[in-house]
Amino acid sequence: MKVVFVGATKGIGRALAREMAARGDSLFLLGRDAADLERSARDLEVRGASGAVGTAPCDLGEPSGFEAALNRAEAALPGFDTVVVTGGLFATQDRLEADPALAESLLHVDFTGTVLFCEAARKRLLARGGGTLCVFSSVAGERGRKPVILYGAAKAGLSTYLEALDHKFRAAGLKTVCVKPGFVKTSMTDGLKPPPFAGEPEPVAKRVLAAIDRGTPVVYAPPMWALVMLVIRSLPRFVMRKVGF
Ligand SMILES: NC(=O)c1ccc[n+]([C@@H]2O[C@H](COP(=O)([O-])OP(=O)(O)OC[C@H]3O[C@@H](n4cnc5c(N)ncnc54)[C@H](OP(=O)(O)O)[C@@H]3O)[C@@H](O)[C@H]2O)c1
Repeated sequence: MKVVFVGATKGIGRALAREMAARGDSLFLLGRDAADLERSARDLEVRGASGAVGTAPCDLGEPSGFEAALNRAEAALPGFDTVVVTGGLFATQDRLEADPALAESLLHVDFTGTVLFCEAARKRLLARGGGTLCVFSSVAGERGRKPVILYGAAKAGLSTYLEALDHKFRAAGLKTVCVKPGFVKTSMTDGLKPPPFAGEPEPVAKRVLAAIDRGTPVVYAPPMWALVMLVIRSLPRFVMRKVGF
């Protein structure tokens, strides 16, 4: 695969990019921190990525830079067939309620910016007959819940967008893979108390790569979260008002 990757410098994205490198995929990295991107690129080359791993700046909060970033990717990796977006922001509901600017930034990056980046990427993929667009949403978007009111709302919108893309463009060759992680131990969740069924980035990455290869439209990871969310989705409102999760 020829993969353009936003968010490969940390957490689940880093684990997924390493899985891809280990089997000889070609990669091009987009992100905010040039030094981090360079470090990650060299790491992926050592781990077996095919050819040189290029990098270019791209902030999911700044849509005006998306075309330039994808042009750089196209020049280094002509005809790329896969775009992965693991980049995203998280903050606790308490922090977001206390800081409207942070709330605005999270809603903008996790919904508007990510959707606009996907729009730019999917147009390029469709123009050459299709490919795979794999984007990380969250189980937080599955049900309105007290601890993730704003983050969950952004991810719910993102999941709905990805579902509709899959409905509209699958027949034209675009495979949309929406990943819904449960709690995974990464820098994003540092300092939070892990719930039961918390996962590690490496097995999650393996599961996501298998989903990309198969073109699975929705993947829960770790898999147990599919069952957990089935139960949570079925709880009546009077229960959801009482519980803390
Ligand atoms: N970990 C979990 O429990 C969990 C659960 C549900 C969903 N998710 C979702 O899974 C994805 C990956 O999570 P993770 O735990 O691996 O997170 P992470 O360890 O915090 O890594 C996030 C990555 O996103 C990049 N990023 C953040 N803001 C960005 C922006 N504005 N533009 C471009 N890149 C940006 C970060 O790079 P820099 O910050 O260095 O720029 C980093 O590479 C996220 O979308 C997250 O919402 C995670």
